[in-house]
Amino acid sequence: MRIGVLTGGGDCPGLNAVIRSIVRRAAQEYDSSVVGFRDGWRGLLEDSHRELAADERIDRILTRGGTILGTARVNPKRLRDGLPQIRKTLQDNGVDALIPIGGEGTLTAAHWLAESGVPVVGVPKTIDNDIDRTDVTFGFDTALTVATEAIDRLHTTAESHQRVMLVEVMGRHAGWIALHAGLAGGAHLTLIPEVPFDVADVCDRIARRFERGDKHFICVVAEGAMPLAGSMQFREGGIDEFGHKIFTGVAQQLGDEIERRIGMEVRSTVLGYTQRGGTPTAYDRVLATRFGLHATDAVHAGDFGTMVALHGTSIDLVPLADATRELKTVPRERYAESVALFA
Ligand code: F6P
Repeated sequence: MRIGVLTGGGDCPGLNAVIRSIVRRAAQEYDSSVVGFRDGWRGLLEDSHRELAADERIDRILTRGGTILGTARVNPKRLRDGLPQIRKTLQDNGVDALIPIGGEGTLTAAHWLAESGVPVVGVPKTIDNDIDRTDVTFGFDTALTVATEAIDRLHTTAESHQRVMLVEVMGRHAGWIALHAGLAGGAHLTLIPEVPFDVADVCDRIARRFERGDKHFICVVAEGAMPLAGSMQFREGGIDEFGHKIFTGVAQQLGDEIERRIGMEVRSTVLGYTQRGGTPTAYDRVLATRFGLHATDAVHAGDFGTMVALHGTSIDLVPLADATRELKTVPRERYAESVALFA
């Protein structure tokens, strides 16, 4: 068998670990070959590819962040000739099955291809952890670790200066990084996209904490967090080609508003792409490697139109249709549980 692989959407620590494990499993267990398509779907649309051999070079990529195949936010569904072009590239390269590794956008395109009869098994990745039907996506643990370390550092400087510190973390639609980093880092409040925040309530919490004699306040803000309608003036971002919200600089805007309302000294830190770059944690390397092994087994078993998923400690297959129906966001009760702790 000949397997095609691509990485699409934003990069994420662990992508190379998946590629390595697919190449190794394919060669060792099935005597199959693997071709990598460059820059997400673009590689299939423009037939840009490279052979991936199970040699020592592939072993060295296990710990490397990013993706050796490159990635891009290209949506083939939007192109009139997208499907025939992809079919042609697959045929020209003798590819029997495709393993796209990606987040919501990439997996939705994978589902569309599967519906059109292309043999596909998806691998979920995203630091945001917002893919449905899998307990966790790789990349999340690394992003969470980076965010938690940053919060640990911000505590001491905030305390020394008696400041309010806002830490903006990634998460446009889902507040998983914010929620978990807030808990792990002992933040005093966390704001997530799923629950609009009331600025008056945020200011009250800060004021109460300082009145009690506490000397600093750390608030984790997901980049997609939004104020309750009418609670403050807010510049909203636009929408990108996948229908995703574009950054609004929420921490900066909220910080300015807090200073204006209660006169506290506020500083904002935007962690941005530091959460996505660099070497994956051990947890992410293991999960990514297991996803790669199981995706390779699935294409050889002919289990197409599926996605590998973590359930407890097992890796299972779920229909791509189910995994891409909606994003996995933070349930209100999970958030409420944390806010009760912060109060
Ligand atoms: O989906 C992962 C993610 O890192 C989001 O958390 C973030 O909002 C987005 O990608 C940034 O995308 P881009 O790389 O296109 O700026």
